[in-house]
Amino acid sequence: MADIKFDGRVAIVTGAGAGLGRTYALALAARGAKVVVNDLGGARDGSGSSTSAADIVVEEIKKKGGEAVANYDSVATVEGGENIVKTAVDNFGKVDIVINNAGILRDKSFVKITEDEWDIVLAVHLKGAYCVSQPAFRIMKENGYGRIINTASGAGLYGNFGQSNYCSAKMGVVGLMNNIAIEGAKYNIKCNTIAPIAASRLTEDIMPPDLFKKLQPEFITPLVLYLVSEDNQETKMIFNCAAGWFSRTEILCAPGICIGDGKREIPVEEIRDNWDKIISLDEARQVNNVGESFAFLGPLLA
Ligand code: NAI
Repeated sequence: MADIKFDGRVAIVTGAGAGLGRTYALALAARGAKVVVNDLGGARDGSGSSTSAADIVVEEIKKKGGEAVANYDSVATVEGGENIVKTAVDNFGKVDIVINNAGILRDKSFVKITEDEWDIVLAVHLKGAYCVSQPAFRIMKENGYGRIINTASGAGLYGNFGQSNYCSAKMGVVGLMNNIAIEGAKYNIKCNTIAPIAASRLTEDIMPPDLFKKLQPEFITPLVLYLVSEDNQETKMIFNCAAGWFSRTEILCAPGICIGDGKREIPVEEIRDNWDKIISLDEARQVNNVGESFAFLGPLLA
């Protein structure tokens, strides 16, 4: 089979000045994509800004013969998102690929978290994915082609102590993916979500050093490149990935039990008495949209 190439494709990678985003930008450019290297260049907690993070990656790409342009806007505002997409259009004429990757942390236990710490984390991860994807989606829709990646986290999918803001934002991008995948389907716009585990400044103080060494961000890159390639026909999927481990994770709906008829009042004791069946995941299956979930009402719909 032919190698996967990105000749003629234009990609935006947010937060591409470091960590995971840098590896995506380098790998896409090495395979022929023209890349907008977006990075605000701030600290791990989102404070400050600098042009050097994006500039260094652009230089690295150019030295290797690739094509790239820097953008320093924050993903967290509508103006920033529009300007990031404008950078792609002004320099390369279109946008085919968006990798929503920019991220920060403001960890604190739930009782201690402040409104500012909540807002800034939601703004970068969740609003940021909206701000960049919406103007890009308009162009992708016109062109009948698009590949979008949202970046979730095991913390959001499965929970983590001290990250209520981050967990909420990361599950939020799954909801956004569900919508973009459904609305993009007829325009060949595919949207998927990854939950990576990788060595970066976000994880350097929370991972044991031996494990940290094995979790190079480059091990996440091939999955992301495949998902944003023309070969990929999957959409609305969530993938775990780390150190060469790739797996799919999914929100499933179980049939549970229908004990009502849409008329009879159901006493709370019937909930208690049927608890094992209500919480059972037996025969749980994937649901493609909310309308499909109504099918579980079965005879009650008659
Ligand atoms: P990183 O800190 O190395 O890279 C994130 C980049 O985003 C930085 O260069 C930063 O300057 C940039 N950025 C931050 N706020 C921005 C803004 N408002 N606008 C534009 N750029 C901004 O972190 P890493 O680990 O590479 O993270 C990348 C993504 O992967 C993040 O969304 C993170 O939450 C997610 N993730 C990472 C995991 C890991 O194990 N490293 C685990 C799960 C998720």
